[in-house]
Amino acid sequence: MEVKEFEKVYVLDHPLIKHKITRIRDKNTPTSEFRQMVKEIAIMEAYEAMKNLPTKMVEVETPIEKTTQPIVEGDKLCFVPILRAGLGMVDGFTSLLPTAHVGHIGLYRDEATHEPHEYYCKLPKGLENMKVFLLDPMLATGGSANDAVKMLKKHGVKDISFCCIIAAPEGVEAFKKENPDIPLYIGALDRELNNRAYICPGLGDAGDRIFGTF
Ligand code: PRP
Ligand code: URA
Repeated sequence: MEVKEFEKVYVLDHPLIKHKITRIRDKNTPTSEFRQMVKEIAIMEAYEAMKNLPTKMVEVETPIEKTTQPIVEGDKLCFVPILRAGLGMVDGFTSLLPTAHVGHIGLYRDEATHEPHEYYCKLPKGLENMKVFLLDPMLATGGSANDAVKMLKKHGVKDISFCCIIAAPEGVEAFKKENPDIPLYIGALDRELNNRAYICPGLGDAGDRIFGTF
């Protein structure tokens, strides 16, 4: 499928990310390595997606003198994985900012219709004033990501970024059509969806591969 141009779509371009995504594509990569690679990709994606975070100046005393230096206020951020597979990315994000909040949205895709269904939503208080990073390794039809954004907006969230590892052009288009202003970070942009709405070449079912439920 032809990939259209959209604003605020960032396909990460780094040999280490490419290398690790190739490892998780391999059907012979075992669950333990798959999980570790997803975490490491998430760290690099978090680094990129948080490039423009605001900082606050605080006073610190070095062994030499007092100085005023920038910090990131972690408690103004929230990482929200879409269950299950998004859970695999949380450790990567929290390892960079352990003071950030974590919320959870549970969605599963109906195997026949490919429509997402909500089964869980637990978000921290005060979320409406936080910057939210929505996490899910796969953006296929875009249905799950779009529903998750709607749920966050219903909770009053205004500042959302979406981070995925592999996206299909169909998913990018569906997501950007509904959310032109939401930055979309992608590890790899793949060719197309197949007739079961799986990403090609993709990596298969991300949740099953992270949790070993084949
Ligand atoms: C996968 C994936 C996304 C969704 C993407 O989850 O983690 O949430 O599919 O597909 P979409 O863009 O077409 O909505 P799945 O529903 O398989 O649930 P799981 O993570 O529990 O396996
Ligand atoms: N969900 C997955 O886990 N993989 C795909 O390829 C599509 C949706």
